[in-house]
Amino acid sequence: MVKVITYGTYDMLHHGHIILLERAKALGDYLIVGVTSDDYDKSRGKINNHQSLMERVAAVKELGIADEIIVEEYEGQKIDDIRRLDVDIFTVGSDWEGKFDYLNDYCKVVYLPRTEGVSSSEVRAEKRKIKVGIVGSAILRAKFIKESQYVNGVEIVGISSAHKVSDSVEGLFYTNVYEELLEKVDAVYIVSKPENHYSDTKKALMAGKHVLCESPLAYTKEECQELYNLADSKNLILMDAIKTAYSTAYERLLLMAKGGRIGDIVSIDSVCTSLRDGIQKKDADLSRKWNSMCGWGPVAMLPVFQLFGTDYNKKIFYTKYLDKSKNIDAFTKIDFVYPSGIASVKVAKGAKAEGELVIAGTKGYIYVPAPWWKTDYFEVRYENPEDNKRFFYQLDGEGIRYEIVAFAKAVESRKNYSYVSKEISEEISGVIDAFNKREDMIELN
Ligand code: CTP
Repeated sequence: MVKVITYGTYDMLHHGHIILLERAKALGDYLIVGVTSDDYDKSRGKINNHQSLMERVAAVKELGIADEIIVEEYEGQKIDDIRRLDVDIFTVGSDWEGKFDYLNDYCKVVYLPRTEGVSSSEVRAEKRKIKVGIVGSAILRAKFIKESQYVNGVEIVGISSAHKVSDSVEGLFYTNVYEELLEKVDAVYIVSKPENHYSDTKKALMAGKHVLCESPLAYTKEECQELYNLADSKNLILMDAIKTAYSTAYERLLLMAKGGRIGDIVSIDSVCTSLRDGIQKKDADLSRKWNSMCGWGPVAMLPVFQLFGTDYNKKIFYTKYLDKSKNIDAFTKIDFVYPSGIASVKVAKGAKAEGELVIAGTKGYIYVPAPWWKTDYFEVRYENPEDNKRFFYQLDGEGIRYEIVAFAKAVESRKNYSYVSKEISEEISGVIDAFNKREDMIELN
């Protein structure tokens, strides 16, 4: 019996795939099809798949051409599969010509003609693109524009902000009248100053546009709830944009912590600081800067709320102001006291500290080195160093790229793909409210 193997993503199955599979089958008696896992695709930069692994496997299975379907999960697996499954022929389309010659050491390699004029990328691109407008001029704007180029189905059409920043605006429609932008788009990404997030988001939702807004969404919990209710009533997507939530390493460490790998969690220490866009001295531009609490607070609080929940007994702020009249804090520490543990969050744009995340448990701890909010790496550490484990997951575009993919998917399907829950998003706004009102605050001189 001649065994043939072929691999592919098979997203939005099209006739090019079917012809290839038929030809592959005709090369022998038994056809094995390897379908790439979502994680493997992500690690090789294929982030735009519209269908999940299960959907893609089901579509290949339904064709009835494959005798066996396996999942391709890691680089180098092809050699393992060929040996393990006793494969005689490896085959793929001619777009891969030469790329798999190294497999000749293990079996025969055949490149089959690729069907002209069709590909998953084209099928995906035929779907209408979501037109996105950008509101505001914070530093993240340029990163967002860059990262959106990697995402199928999203097109940045223009910017509305009071300050025109030339480098990222090139080729895009620009206005300082928000309503003009809203007329031209399906959705907006809001990076305006935090005090404007609520009104900018509300205006967009009222105009029937989907919203991805940098955190905090609003300055009070009630306003934040109001925005989510408004989005729901209009069947629109509203997402809190905390890019770290979309980092694979971060996602995995949360799952490990929740899965009991370090025992019961007793404390979380989360530190985020930066001086680059900092607020060290009272300069004229201070009014345009985000304070430490809004700039770093949401991301620093994220692991706390995702692991301990939002039901804490008490919180205390320790704040050192740079300019109290403008509510600009150089440094803030928040202690959250929970029934079963304690969390400490340190944020600063006017001070520097090691930006690490430590989650301590009864059996061991998770250590994420600085800058933890854009990490691709973490360690699970125990009393006995021999038990320590290191984990690495590729991170493209600081998480922004995956965040845009999630937003585009949500807009397209009108389903929730956000990695930041409504409850957490509302709690973040609630904490900012308490900070602004200086509740439970100890001021440092
Ligand atoms: N294939 C083909 N003819 C096409 C498209 C794909 O023969 N028009 C073959 C590829 O050569 C590969 C298999 O089908 O052997 C699975 O390819 P896959 O990468 O899943 O499909 P594409 O349509 O090429 O996907 P994309 O556009 O995302 O790269």
